[in-house]
Amino acid sequence: MKLTISVIKADVGSIGGHLRPSVKLKTTVENYLREHGKKLLIDSFISTTGDDIALLMSHERGVNDNKIHELAWDAFMAGTKVAKEQGLYGAGQDLLKDAFSGNVRGMGPASCEMEFEERPNEAFLFFTADKTEPGAYNLPLYLAFVDPMHCAGLLLSPKMAKGFTFTIMDVDYTEGDRLIELNTPENIYDIACLLRDNQRFVVESIRSRANDNISVVVSAEHLRKVGDTYKGKDDPVALVRTQGNFPSAGEVLSPYRITHYVAGTMRGSHIGPLMPAKQNSTISFFDGPPIVSCAAFSVHEGRFTEPVDTFDHPFWDWVRNNAAQKMAEIRNQGFSGPAMLPYSELEYGGVGEKMNQLDKQFIVRKDSAVNGKKNKAA
Ligand code: 13P
Ligand code: 13P
Ligand code: MG
Ligand code: MG
Repeated sequence: MKLTISVIKADVGSIGGHLRPSVKLKTTVENYLREHGKKLLIDSFISTTGDDIALLMSHERGVNDNKIHELAWDAFMAGTKVAKEQGLYGAGQDLLKDAFSGNVRGMGPASCEMEFEERPNEAFLFFTADKTEPGAYNLPLYLAFVDPMHCAGLLLSPKMAKGFTFTIMDVDYTEGDRLIELNTPENIYDIACLLRDNQRFVVESIRSRANDNISVVVSAEHLRKVGDTYKGKDDPVALVRTQGNFPSAGEVLSPYRITHYVAGTMRGSHIGPLMPAKQNSTISFFDGPPIVSCAAFSVHEGRFTEPVDTFDHPFWDWVRNNAAQKMAEIRNQGFSGPAMLPYSELEYGGVGEKMNQLDKQFIVRKDSAVNGKKNKAA
């Protein structure tokens, strides 16, 4: 059967700041989806990651379906009502428009979807991340699909020998989706050259070259102007079909051991290590570290098994300790140098405004005096 899996996630309010949605909020969204999705969905699953709620849905309506997007939007609207009633922080934060218009893209929530012919033993991973940006998946995806140091299948499985096609989006281009397709193994240096810049170039999808089947979709979205600010780079979700022609679950998870530094954490304006966290984790220290969670599923005729919480294993406790240490190290230098994002990437206007004020106070020295003394040679 031709199956579609859709993930739509939003932050519509959380307790105590940007920490975690209330149980009542999550239950409201969940109940709304179950009740109103009866005719549209085959199955659904809901999780929270920090202050975000992600809806995982299976159906046969294809990607970008109006009705599915509207269902998710309405579920988040129902949640927003409860968030307001409970006085939650940032109630309705990610619902940027007053009325739904066809597709959640560009309206605040993040989404990724894929349509495929269901395999007899269909397996996939459902990634959700908080306090970071879509480019956070760039390095782990590159390593899982390109590097035999993580993906042993590139050497051991003939099914993977043909490589993969990466579709990469230039998210800074605001007029539409600006995309490039590059093949592995021949274009791997070009792919690395783009993916080094997590803020600008983001993996949108990856397909197998053996059969053109889709393996990966990420909630890559170009920036859009909402009011006075640009929105789009927020708390990303991703789906990865595994096994067979694709890397195995363990190969896709392997690069998350690195806990590479990504943008996000406090006020979306700092650098922190990406910490693999258990499902439904909260946020705490310095609104970070940035966290990523992952649930593995098998699916048959659109029905999900129970999830396996892939980062709920003693190995990842050690990884989390390493990430905590890396977080403490970079926090030691506060706002200095690479610990804080450059002006162009700051989510808050404060530094920009201050710079505009200070700019007026700068003077250009008329003569070439050095250290207050005239330079005679000049
Ligand atoms: P196969 O059983 O499909 O070869 O998968 C290998 C695997 O999952 C290694 O982790
Ligand atoms: P979220 O994007 O997760 O809502 O976090 C915002 C923030 O400012 C955290 O410090
Ligand atoms: Mg929030
Ligand atoms: Mg969030």
